[in-house]
Amino acid sequence: MILAAGLGKRMLSQSSKLVHNVAGRPMVRHVVEAAKAAGVARTVVVIGNQADDVRRAVGENDKRVGFAYQDAQRGTGHAVLSAERHLAEYEGDVLILNGDLPVLRPDTLTRFADFHRSSGAPLSLVTAAVESPAGYGRIIRTYNGDVSRIVEEADATAEERAIKEINCGIYCVDVAWLWDPLKRARADNAQREIYLTDLVEILRRDGHKVAAYRHPEAEEVLGVNDRRELAAATRALHRRKANALMVSGVTILDPETTYIDVDVKVGQDTILEPGVMLFGATEIGRGVTIGAGSRITDSVVGDGTALLPYCVVASSRIGRACRIGPFAHLRPDTQLDEEARIGNFVETKKIRMGQGSKANHLTYLGDAEIGKHANIGAGTITCNYDGVQKLRTIIEDEVFIGSDTQLVAPVRVRRGAYVGAGSTITKDVPPYSLAISRAQQVVKEDWAKRFSPAAREKKRDKGKNRGGG
Ligand code: UD1
Ligand code: CA
Repeated sequence: MILAAGLGKRMLSQSSKLVHNVAGRPMVRHVVEAAKAAGVARTVVVIGNQADDVRRAVGENDKRVGFAYQDAQRGTGHAVLSAERHLAEYEGDVLILNGDLPVLRPDTLTRFADFHRSSGAPLSLVTAAVESPAGYGRIIRTYNGDVSRIVEEADATAEERAIKEINCGIYCVDVAWLWDPLKRARADNAQREIYLTDLVEILRRDGHKVAAYRHPEAEEVLGVNDRRELAAATRALHRRKANALMVSGVTILDPETTYIDVDVKVGQDTILEPGVMLFGATEIGRGVTIGAGSRITDSVVGDGTALLPYCVVASSRIGRACRIGPFAHLRPDTQLDEEARIGNFVETKKIRMGQGSKANHLTYLGDAEIGKHANIGAGTITCNYDGVQKLRTIIEDEVFIGSDTQLVAPVRVRRGAYVGAGSTITKDVPPYSLAISRAQQVVKEDWAKRFSPAAREKKRDKGKNRGGG
């Protein structure tokens, strides 16, 4: 059961805390995926605040993930009770997780579940020792070390606040000891909420033992409540991802400045230079080089391709053995076939470029289809927008477009044709022809000599002399 109905006040955000992006996934989805990877049979996510957004962030296509609705956010205990109906038939242990634990690992959950089973206690929870426990529930232990209760920060005495062992919001409980005991929890506390954490004291008073699993790596089990913790969680996930990739044969020159989202795939022998950002559902092949400062989002890059520094690529597919950049901007729906080349200060959008074609300098290609082995000269622009609609340019195989050409769409340059430099092409160009639309050059001999300031001065003086007397 994942608790995701809360407001997340400390984020000071228009959207629910749980849908904020953390290293490429909405926060709550990290928790859902961790539970799944740990092998839970079924997941119930408790939603309420901004329920539709949270539901969408979790994803609705997995039959093993259901949703319970908490009508008012009256605390974590009340959230758990809102899901009772969904677990009506269920017998056995329930793992209960706060939804704000994006750094939590599946392994930790598996180990914790094993710990719980062997403890024999009806309830177990995860704790951690931290330097600054502010904001967390503190673990109160008896003289012999057993957990006796959890006290929330708002309800704690000064002495209790000094305790550095905190409750992480990760619990395992036998359902047989969940519903009825939890219904005895009262909102008689500073926040006027029903606390899930009160279950500890309730079960203890009934004579049960509560087992505590102290997790050694605090970073992994700390909740995200504000933007500073969001940054820390993002950083932790990026660092973990970089480590996993390096172990699998990827070279990362500076892991501290390389941000790779958790779902990104990178092939062996690929080199990532400093400042590279690989976001979303990006897949990078083998033997690729990604130059310094490049950002690639939701895109595929084929084997052996090189991106020189400072490229920005979004929702595009780059084939193998291409060469891109430096300073190239590939906007959504750019598709480059193998061995294509896109050079500096080239912008593309919604294009397909065939094998071995090149646009090496200062060019805009939008809504265009370019065949194989075409050469697009420096300064070429597809004029794809007439103010109302987007129109297509088609450039067939082996076409040569001279520098500084405008192609006014809709227009087609047929196979093997040439377009002379400086042309404005408004009509289709037949195969193997030359189209040229610039004005004829005119030369005026000695014009500059006559035009120069010295020449004009001389002329004026002459005039004066002639008129003098
Ligand atoms: C909670 C714990 C605290 C622990 C900390 C760990 C309680 C009372 N306190 O405090 O002991 O140290 O987590 O991070 O449980 N939620 C709901 N419905 C609600 C309220 C909250 O679904 O009515 C959800 C939130 O969306 C969130 C989770 O429960 O995912 C925890 O709520 P949060 O407000 O973050 O609890 P903390 O104050 O951090
Ligand atoms: Ca929290």
